[in-house]
Amino acid sequence: MKKVGIAILGLGVVGGGTYRILTKNREFYQRTQEVDLVVESVLEPDAAKLKALGVAPEEIASNIAEVVCNPDVNIIVECIGGTEVAREYVLAALNVGKTVVTSNKELYCKYSHELERAAKRQNAGLYYEASCVGGVPIIRTLLDGVQSNRIESMMGIINGTTNYILTKMSESGAAYEDVLKEAQALGYAEADPDVDVEGYDAAYKLSILASLAFHTKVPFTKVFREGITGISPEDIENGKSLGYRMKLLAIGKQTHEGIEVRVHPAFVRKDHPLASVGGSFNAIFLSGDSVGDVMLYGKGAGEFPTGSAIVSDIIYAATHSENKYSPFKNTATADKGVRFVSDFRSAYYMRLTVTDRTGVLSKIAAVFGKNNISILEMIQRGCEEDEKATIVIVTHETHEAAIRNAVSKLNASDIAKVESILRVAL
Ligand code: HSE
Repeated sequence: MKKVGIAILGLGVVGGGTYRILTKNREFYQRTQEVDLVVESVLEPDAAKLKALGVAPEEIASNIAEVVCNPDVNIIVECIGGTEVAREYVLAALNVGKTVVTSNKELYCKYSHELERAAKRQNAGLYYEASCVGGVPIIRTLLDGVQSNRIESMMGIINGTTNYILTKMSESGAAYEDVLKEAQALGYAEADPDVDVEGYDAAYKLSILASLAFHTKVPFTKVFREGITGISPEDIENGKSLGYRMKLLAIGKQTHEGIEVRVHPAFVRKDHPLASVGGSFNAIFLSGDSVGDVMLYGKGAGEFPTGSAIVSDIIYAATHSENKYSPFKNTATADKGVRFVSDFRSAYYMRLTVTDRTGVLSKIAAVFGKNNISILEMIQRGCEEDEKATIVIVTHETHEAAIRNAVSKLNASDIAKVESILRVAL
């Protein structure tokens, strides 16, 4: 039976899960995959982590050179995170022809061109299923499941931490700050909470997934990004009463005007399949020209779900003689001539405070009319004491630029103050 030696760099949550899966399932893979996957080497400075996993002393490497020069190591798994040490170690591995499996979305998103060039030069494999949506096999699906299609759009919940926070806020009315602490305690939040809550994590993943789906480099810098820190329980409640659920969405579309890629909070109708994706679960909804709609759902983070994606990549690499590279020209920047849409179209939810007097509604309607924005539905709640009222408006689809213009006109007037503006994925 073919024996394949594995090295794991970093035994944190994901590296530890990978180690456990490989150890637990070794015989299962011998039987079902006809390959013997053996952990030959680990690089982890924290003795407590090594002890917790019961790593044998002969498996422990003291530096990266020892790992990459080990003739028994065929595949190196990078679970360090970040882009400095990880990039140096991954390049060191690829430069000597070792296949690399990584879970590092920031690294792959920012440096895939450089890493892939090194891999191709040495005919080494470079696999990154675990970088996007953890245990959900979205990369394999795009490469090997729906590649017969022109992908028209993708819409997903691809960050577990923010989905957990928004689900909790929606279920219990809790404030954002309180729920963030809970999410961090559960262990799938990034070390720097801004990476999750400001949408960077989802934007890294969307950059990778959109590049694969649309067969052209979609740089991270082209992804429109807005986080969830400004979402109030009041807006979540208003949305609920109108039949919506709040989600941090990652949206990619191939349109006549160009590629549209955006990450932002948005209301989805409660009967949309993504509305019922709760807690830390992730899901991604693809539309292809032949297959129609496909939805994948599962855990996007955690030691075993992410370890599952890593080990699946290891098995793929160990059982295929040809390496698979990106199905697009992998460059540092977008290809010449590829257009990206900045003035995208969406429906919008707007909450305004107004002075409750005659003619206010018609003035608001006039601002909407001038900007060619059509109203889909509206609620008004008055308050007798201070003659103020809250108005909630949901619009039909319109251009982002039109809504921004309407917001600045309303805020500059003496009739209304726009308290919040959120997109609605109708
Ligand atoms: N922090 C990420 C999340 C982990 O919450 O989804 C997986 O990328």
